[in-house]
Amino acid sequence: MTDGVRVLFVCLGNICRSPTAEAATREALIAAGLDDRVEIDSAGIGAWHAGNRPDHRMRAAGRAVDLEIDGAARQVTAAELGGWDLIVAMDHDNVADLRAMAPPDLHDRIRLFRSFDPAADGAQVPDPYYGGADGFTDVVQLCRAAAAGLVDELAAALTGGERGRR
Ligand code: 4NP
Repeated sequence: MTDGVRVLFVCLGNICRSPTAEAATREALIAAGLDDRVEIDSAGIGAWHAGNRPDHRMRAAGRAVDLEIDGAARQVTAAELGGWDLIVAMDHDNVADLRAMAPPDLHDRIRLFRSFDPAADGAQVPDPYYGGADGFTDVVQLCRAAAAGLVDELAAALTGGERGRR
């Protein structure tokens, strides 16, 4: 790790929530002028959808509010976890699965995405896969709110780091 920060978003399938979290965070990083300081990606606990684009319902919900959600799904690997500064999970099941994969010294890096949203009170990003269209619309809103909090925290950490080097 040199200058930047690396953040991985993880959900179950990597076709709904984590690609949305990634897109919302990219949007917030660009708005904050930090997109060249923070590397982001997303992955899934499962491999069922590997290689697929995000779910068409998820992409439509994003498009409706000008959030472009794209990418190709992939499965997270235990070997990559040490290469990420933050591993951001969408729900408690994701956290438990990641903790089971990761050595104990990495457990502190695993965080619930909505823990960055001061208004969310520890809540999860609910899995929209088997529900109706409203669930996908909600995911976009929840992800944008959490992304704002995450980028605030990253901005403070990166700015603090610059101050520390002077
Ligand atoms: P995601 O949603 O974890 O937000 O990508 C899901 C996608 C697929 C499945 C479950 C959740 N699935 O069971 O295939």
